[in-house]
Amino acid sequence: MNIENQNILITGANRGIGLGFAKACAKRKTNLILAIRKNDDELIAELKNLGALSVVIIESDLSSRVGVENLITAADPLKIDIVFNNAGMLTGGLLDEQKMDDIYQMLQVNVNSLIQLSHWAVGKMIAQKHGKIINHSSVSAVMHFPCATTYAASKAAVWAFSACLEQELKGTGVSTLCLVTPGIKTRMFDEIDKLYSKNIEVPKDSISPDEYALKIISAIESDQTTLSPGGVTGAGLKLATHLRSVFNFGVSKAFKGR
Ligand SMILES: NC(=O)c1ccc[n+]([C@@H]2O[C@H](COP(=O)([O-])OP(=O)(O)OC[C@H]3O[C@@H](n4cnc5c(N)ncnc54)[C@H](OP(=O)(O)O)[C@@H]3O)[C@@H](O)[C@H]2O)c1
Repeated sequence: MNIENQNILITGANRGIGLGFAKACAKRKTNLILAIRKNDDELIAELKNLGALSVVIIESDLSSRVGVENLITAADPLKIDIVFNNAGMLTGGLLDEQKMDDIYQMLQVNVNSLIQLSHWAVGKMIAQKHGKIINHSSVSAVMHFPCATTYAASKAAVWAFSACLEQELKGTGVSTLCLVTPGIKTRMFDEIDKLYSKNIEVPKDSISPDEYALKIISAIESDQTTLSPGGVTGAGLKLATHLRSVFNFGVSKAFKGR
């Protein structure tokens, strides 16, 4: 799919990877619909300056079903070609030290809201015989570490959801792209260290959101269904997929225990 002139809805576009992607899309002359928690006139001006054809903000809190319904009601009259389910939260630490309220909230944002938005977008896109749903998973979906129980479960759910949906959509003109994202230097990346490092050595390698945004655009334009990392993380992903016992041995060396 050529990205130019497309109408792109992005959740969590005010910072991190979502912002990097919004800026990269703006430079490619697109219409942007930003689902973010607070209106931001400076962000609108910045994206228009970069080349966005139009920028609309829909104030959205994805932490409840009603919040997502409100977003859908506001976005439904608009033409949408791409939905990027990007917003996400991190939970972590030993399971018994995580708070159940935080876990419920994270699952709502990372999984339920993503399914609810896809449920709406799929109907709309099939009717127009065109569209793409981008779902934000993570290497955590496959590379399993202590301290990542709940977050990893959410990202595994996203990958499975995306893969099943891709098959359902064959022949409709609508497709999915699942991002199996490695470490990207964002606020969430910094939170990983705070939440996990008491119990496990945390990998420090990362790339910038702007650099990653270009990879996402290239994956859209070449109609990939999955964007997986290369390099050391890519090798780790392959190890975790095909040689789980070797991967787990490495993980056990990094685990500091309770
Ligand atoms: N960074 C990494 O290394 C990495 C690796 C793998 C996958 N990912 C995934 O990448 C996605 C983006 O994360 P990031 O690294 O860019 O993190 P980030 O900088 O922390 O950004 C998270 C975004 O999600 C939004 N969000 C969180 N809760 C929300 C809610 N209840 N309603 C609406 N928006 C909400 C945040 O909005 P507010 O500013 O309003 O809080 C923010 O825009 C996430 O799905 C994450 O799991 C990241």
